[in-house]
Amino acid sequence: MDRIVVVGSGSPLTGEVRVSGSKNSTLALMAAALLGDGETIIHNAPRVRDVSTMIQILQSLGAQAGWIEGESNSLSIDTRGVNQFEAPYDLVRQMRASFLVLGPLLARYGRARVSEPGGCAIGVRPIDQHLKAFEQLGAELSLDHGYVEAHGKLSGTSFSFDMVTVNGTQNAMMAAVLTPGETIMENCAREPEVMELAAMLKKMGADIRGDGTQHIVIRGVEKLKSVEFQVSGDRIEAGTLIAAGMITKGDVRVTGIDPALLGSTLEKMREAGAIFDIEKDNVRVRIGTPTVGVSVATAPYPGFPTDMQAQLMAVMTLATGSSVIVENVFENRFMHVPEMQRMGADISVKGRSAHVRGVEKLLGAEVMATDLRASASLIVAGLAAEGETTVNRVYHIDRGYERIEEKLQNLGAVIRREG
Ligand code: UD1
Repeated sequence: MDRIVVVGSGSPLTGEVRVSGSKNSTLALMAAALLGDGETIIHNAPRVRDVSTMIQILQSLGAQAGWIEGESNSLSIDTRGVNQFEAPYDLVRQMRASFLVLGPLLARYGRARVSEPGGCAIGVRPIDQHLKAFEQLGAELSLDHGYVEAHGKLSGTSFSFDMVTVNGTQNAMMAAVLTPGETIMENCAREPEVMELAAMLKKMGADIRGDGTQHIVIRGVEKLKSVEFQVSGDRIEAGTLIAAGMITKGDVRVTGIDPALLGSTLEKMREAGAIFDIEKDNVRVRIGTPTVGVSVATAPYPGFPTDMQAQLMAVMTLATGSSVIVENVFENRFMHVPEMQRMGADISVKGRSAHVRGVEKLLGAEVMATDLRASASLIVAGLAAEGETTVNRVYHIDRGYERIEEKLQNLGAVIRREG
């Protein structure tokens, strides 16, 4: 099994690095391709494992889906052959976002059977809000041998999500765009990935208003056409690379990203001592004063992203003073803590709060990746630790980061993958 070895060389990372397209946006856009009548082309899609899983799911439905030859990051999805309406357990269990095909299948073909995603390393992640939305739209739902079965004719309605859910909002949007009448959804997620999905759906002919707010109004149309769409840069990968620059006291320019999407992340890092030069499509990070501890609580967008929590914690392990990091979005998303402790970090966890007391140095160790962002945080910590850090189970990082070791090498990191 692959592992990544990072040698904390003590030298700052320097140079320029380009982020890949947003993994989370791409997954939703791929599901939305099911709503189009022909071939959808998605440019700037990251070549990561989650995208491959979604390709397999679309193929299992009968779509032609895959990378366009000769173009490194463009996907083609042709839905004209779709003749199956079931997403199997074997694929869905690998990635919860597979559940995103339910909305489009139901709206376009009137039926879908999708495996329940099951448990997940970062806590119980129910799908009740997705189901609530489909039910409100008039779908008949049943649970059968671990599968959610949905069918029926949908019609416009009004409802409110009980909590803010990104994929839940996206799934409901994809169902509502082909549903006759007007659908009003309250308490929607405002994440950039929701807006990006709305942008593609609008290009396809959908009538959506209010995306980017908590109140989304959709008027169903009869048919949507397939389009070509460019995914924007991954804000979480950008934040991770900035954290890598910060922890090594480097000077790194991260390009291919709209800095406006990084608002709360940059704000916290600035408070911790980072200096940013912000341009239209890039951010340069440097460190002026020694990094200081900051307190942060994760929250839905525009709050501090849960997907950046572990990487910020890595930076905080070496800050002056202490930090309190509260995880409000997911339960049990502190799996990286015991691994960082193995490297000498001083962290104590009580419920949803982690108290981090900065230490003088981290020591390289053998550690285990437990989820996507946790593995990224261990690489970030390893860059600043003394000696060698071996991150095992790197298939987690391959789910969402494209050529991460190559990108860090180009910034001067000593990092390699071992098979
Ligand atoms: C998406 C992102 C993930 C990110 C998360 C929060 C993708 C593929 N993944 O995940 O990287 O960490 O948003 O920003 O886009 N919940 C329920 N019932 C539901 C749905 C969610 O209780 O039906 C709860 C979850 O358990 C969690 C919270 O709501 O505690 C937020 O989850 P949600 O926003 O749905 O996360 P995802 O969309 O799965």
